[in-house]
Amino acid sequence: MININLDISRALSFVNKEEIDAFQEAITKNHENLLEKKGKGNDFLGWVDLPSSITNEFLDEIQADADRMAAKAKIFVVIGIGGSYLGARAVIEALQHQFAVLQNSDRPKVIYAGQNISEDYMADLMDVLKDHDYAVTVISKSGTTTEPALAFRIIKNHLEAKYGKAEAAERIIAITDKSRGALKTLADKEGYKTYVVPDDVGGRYSVLTPVGLLPIAVAGFDIHALVRGAIEMENFNRENTCIDKNPIALYAATRNALYNTGKTTEIMVNYIPTLFYMTEWWKQLYGESEGKENKGIFPAGVSNTTDLHSMGQYIQDGIRNIFETVISVEKSKRSLEIPMDKADLDGLNYLKGKTITEVNYNAELGTAIAHVDGQVPNLRISIPELNEVNLGQLIYFYEFACGLSGYILDVNPFDQPGVEAYKKNMFALLGKPGFEEATKAIKARI
Ligand code: PA5
Repeated sequence: MININLDISRALSFVNKEEIDAFQEAITKNHENLLEKKGKGNDFLGWVDLPSSITNEFLDEIQADADRMAAKAKIFVVIGIGGSYLGARAVIEALQHQFAVLQNSDRPKVIYAGQNISEDYMADLMDVLKDHDYAVTVISKSGTTTEPALAFRIIKNHLEAKYGKAEAAERIIAITDKSRGALKTLADKEGYKTYVVPDDVGGRYSVLTPVGLLPIAVAGFDIHALVRGAIEMENFNRENTCIDKNPIALYAATRNALYNTGKTTEIMVNYIPTLFYMTEWWKQLYGESEGKENKGIFPAGVSNTTDLHSMGQYIQDGIRNIFETVISVEKSKRSLEIPMDKADLDGLNYLKGKTITEVNYNAELGTAIAHVDGQVPNLRISIPELNEVNLGQLIYFYEFACGLSGYILDVNPFDQPGVEAYKKNMFALLGKPGFEEATKAIKARI
């Protein structure tokens, strides 16, 4: 059963249904291109049928490694950047206790490294690792990305000094290419347990490979259920291309119809802070997939109601090139009623007996109506509750809609040539061997 619903009714005063339906032909063609792996970047379409190709035995192996790490460690460090950490973090933060760092639990606390080059971040992290038992996964598909490689060099040294070389190797799991890259060479030499990122799955589409599944399992969440949800969405999507039946097709068509009317920024909006990293993952997925050849919807994100007190002003009244997509969770995990207060000095007794979620829902509804009045079309993706199955469905929903949208835009959604520009300059400035010409050229510009 598909638990994701997409409501576009609050966009229909900006694009009419005929303009959305006009994308049906492109959707049908590109749906087939994705499923049959014959569109642009088709050597990176392994994610399309990935969920249904994952065996229970493979999930059991990941679970066993996750449990082995959990038995050894109070802290589990996920070292990776971009697609090599955002998917795992999105799912873990959506499901875990929001004060997990302060809570007792029989699972390790998952923390992150290698997603920045901040010396203070790294030094603060080492302060913590010195005092606690920990284990690590180092994730890099290319095996050569600077940020995680730097973090891993420091953490590996520390692990070996703390536990000795043999035990350190037992506390490291490397996730990388099957044969290429510095990380693969290092992992083989040191004898680390290794998982492979499939050749045909790019970083930002890799959450349902060990890249996401191992950290999610270490954190204590049900990876079988997560994959089951993704399979449900994969199977449903395979059989349905019609905009009126398939929310994936409807989402891709509607956002492209809005883009054609000049709505060039899409804001993903959540009303529960646990979805912050789901938005970060979505931003990477869509930004890196669509933003090329001087085209693409700019993906932004806000967390409400927090950001209604900051970005809300711009969204209501700023440049009118925005549409928003709200991800709305119908049922909260917990229940907390607003109490009666005799004195009622804060004037809140009119809310007594209501739950916080009822208040939040009315904030969401009131905001959607205000934004539509302010010329911001509103799409609403709703899921019944936050659990592994629904997150699995949502991941596949976003991935396939992203592939469709990229093909409609006529770009290759599976490469990221623009990411190389900063790297080349950074290596030139740092004097990396092999970059001598680039070093001369960039120094002349300083
Ligand atoms: O989606 C992508 O391909 C990128 O965001 C990568 O995930 C990111 O650059 C990290 O690359 P790697 O896993 O090779 O270290």
